[in-house]
Amino acid sequence: MTPFLFSVGIDAFGVAVPKTFVSLTKLAQARGVDPQKYLGGLGTELMGIAMPDEDTVTLAARAAHQALESSNTRPEDIGMLVVGTETAVDHSKPVASFVQGLLGIGPRCRVFETKHACYGGTAALQLAADWIRSGSAKGQKALVICSDIARYGLHTPGEPTQGAGAVALLISSSPRLLALEPGQSGLCSMDVHDFWRPLYSKDALVDGHYSVQCYLDALSGAYADYQANAGTTAAPGTLFSDRFAAFAYHVPYGKMARKAHRQIRTLDGDATPDESFERLVGASLRLPSLVGNIYTGSLYLAVVSLLDATKGDLTGQRLGLFSYGSGACAEFFSAVVQPGAQAAVQALGLSATLARRRELSIDEYEAVMRTREALDEKPLDAAKSAFAFQGIAEHRRTYARPS
Ligand code: HMG
Repeated sequence: MTPFLFSVGIDAFGVAVPKTFVSLTKLAQARGVDPQKYLGGLGTELMGIAMPDEDTVTLAARAAHQALESSNTRPEDIGMLVVGTETAVDHSKPVASFVQGLLGIGPRCRVFETKHACYGGTAALQLAADWIRSGSAKGQKALVICSDIARYGLHTPGEPTQGAGAVALLISSSPRLLALEPGQSGLCSMDVHDFWRPLYSKDALVDGHYSVQCYLDALSGAYADYQANAGTTAAPGTLFSDRFAAFAYHVPYGKMARKAHRQIRTLDGDATPDESFERLVGASLRLPSLVGNIYTGSLYLAVVSLLDATKGDLTGQRLGLFSYGSGACAEFFSAVVQPGAQAAVQALGLSATLARRRELSIDEYEAVMRTREALDEKPLDAAKSAFAFQGIAEHRRTYARPS
């Protein structure tokens, strides 16, 4: 293998969540379900709900703005701008173009959107990393944004697994937060109908229990491929997964990450596969349990949570990362934590951001969900807050620009 002369990875994160949320305890009570099913059985406490002035563009722009601001990156430093999403706002114009306009990113930039359910963001990340490794970036950085509104029908089994949010990843050589390990990646893709959203529907359709099995099958395949590509085996007396200091999995709900971790440890031959769960995965689930499934950004919210909530120093440690997109495409890959990464993520103040959100009653939540049906006809209003969705005039979506 050709050695790489520089490392490539994540230089900064930005995170955006909706301004409002729903308590799953209250949703369970309203649906006549034991709250423990949602809290313990699924592992989610609160679910972000996007209001009518928030959409995939506004979340993406806010997350990207934070990533650029927190790293003192200028718009002209960006040579590739990609949004991974499965809840785009237009069949043709990419979310990335709206973000380009809102952030003032210049014309000498490759701007587009990627889609493969929740895997779309990882596809963009790997593409951007290869672009930098190839030398084509010529010193410029890539801005990859994972942005989605996860939406199922009211009263469906998927309802407690909704959420909304965006995570922006600034990708560069000599990354300050996480260095991707080149070549250390395993893939598994297959043509399955576990979860999908037909062009005529705003709500996702899902074969729920089958989707859980597809996720686990894809994880087994991607993990086996990772091991085959790693060029190393487990040291005597250790398991292969012992080489990872912690894991972040795609988190449609916390229990899925628990099942994923059990699967990996079982494949490794661990007779007590749940024993390491809290130590190796617990910190990655704190933010997702307060936001819900954010589709493309879900794995990256788990990574941010891991860096934010881990008490010990992770510097120089290897993380195991698993991205899954229904349909399906999965990738298991790894990254090494850079000095100062945990402090940089903690400085984003995400706990305080989450604490400022407003709780919706179940009646308000249901009204918002019904309003979303008509959002494609939303008339212009004077929404003023930076990046807010203002409505549609002459078939064109408009957004409030930052002052
Ligand atoms: P369900 O049938 O309502 O729930 O649907 P269940 O009966 O399977 O129960 C869920 C868990 O709660 C079970 O635990 C129960 O035992 C437990 P498990 O057996 O799995 O360990 N439970 C309780 N625990 C404590 N106290 C109680 C209690 N009652 C039950 N009283 C399902 C669950 C996830 C299928 C549903 O919510 C759904 O369809 N969600 C959407 C699909 C989904 O999230 N799939 C995940 C894998 S696919 C994926 O991740 C891709 C995705 O992100 C999309 C993309 O790629 O774009 C979705």
